[in-house]
Amino acid sequence: MSDSVSPPPEVVMTQLIFGKWVAMAISVAAKLHLADHLANGPLSVAELATRTETHAPSLFRLLRALASVGIFAEDAAGNFAQTPLSQVLRSNVPGSMRAVADYCGADWSWRPWGQLLETVKTGQTAFDAVFGEQVFEYLSKHPHESEVFNEGMTSFSMQESPAVVAAVDFSAFGTIVDVGGGHGHLLGTILMKTPTARGIVYDLPHVVAGAPAHLAAVGLADRCRAEGGNFFETVPAGDAYVMKHIIHDWPDDKSITILRNCRRAANPGAKLFLVEMVIPPGNAPSPGKLLDLEMLVIASGKERTEAEYAALFAAAGWRLTRIVPTQSPTSVIEAELA
Ligand SMILES: C[S@@+](CC[C@H](N)C(=O)[O-])C[C@H]1O[C@@H](n2cnc3c(N)ncnc32)[C@H](O)[C@@H]1O
Repeated sequence: MSDSVSPPPEVVMTQLIFGKWVAMAISVAAKLHLADHLANGPLSVAELATRTETHAPSLFRLLRALASVGIFAEDAAGNFAQTPLSQVLRSNVPGSMRAVADYCGADWSWRPWGQLLETVKTGQTAFDAVFGEQVFEYLSKHPHESEVFNEGMTSFSMQESPAVVAAVDFSAFGTIVDVGGGHGHLLGTILMKTPTARGIVYDLPHVVAGAPAHLAAVGLADRCRAEGGNFFETVPAGDAYVMKHIIHDWPDDKSITILRNCRRAANPGAKLFLVEMVIPPGNAPSPGKLLDLEMLVIASGKERTEAEYAALFAAAGWRLTRIVPTQSPTSVIEAELA
């Protein structure tokens, strides 16, 4: 018989509230590339401080705090080393979350959360109130922030894309268009599994500029091209449209414009595949219910229920046909021409 006792609510609440401290400490570790510096073995705080141009006593306190939650570990000699959890704060390793941790603590991502109360009172997107423009406009003017954000999106894709291709067969389609496809990780994964198909990664010009290098690296330069453009104006013709974490960025009217533009460009018999976290009914736990707050604060969008997706599709000339769960928290929401 287990003798474990649940902590009292005030202890659980304290941990939840102080999650802010942990989140920012992880982000600073990511920005300083601490896990990359420790990749070849333990280092002293003095050496790490020299390499990262930081204040050694303060860096020690950051590392000690992180080690208390399993991220890095201090040895008997006072050196810090990697742990399984800190490994994913390295760059360019499978499962890397370094760029996600970096951008989540970046000023543009962090500061709007301080305005959540105002957003809940008024419904105004906090990001727009703080920075005076929409987040993707802001990112288009800030190349470093945009690059880290896009790297972070690719990190999520490394988890989600294999789950999507395991759940859905794309072999019936000739040309597959990934609308808002970023650097092309999802489309690359689909095309590698679907040798008969060709692809187009479509995104804002400054973002999609990062796609050809990725597509060439995975041997797809001859079957997939990158195209820059604005999905509120037009999208390329295709037999299948995939959109991962796109519609959740936008309110209903703008989402319908994107979906209508796909409908207008779609070849006969085309299908649409949204990859999103579908909100389950009731109190069921769901990461989508928290991601929905990020959409409230940073973008002007929302995570949606099945009924909400069905209504968007109907308004844009599509018909929802099925929702396929994947091994990741995302589902594939399929539609056909109405
Ligand atoms: C949340 S990210 C998702 C990226 C990618 N689908 C993924 O899942 O990794 C949203 C994407 O929409 C793109 N985007 C935003 N506004 C756009 C527009 N007007 N036209 C085309 N792409 C746009 C962004 O540049 C970004 O790559």
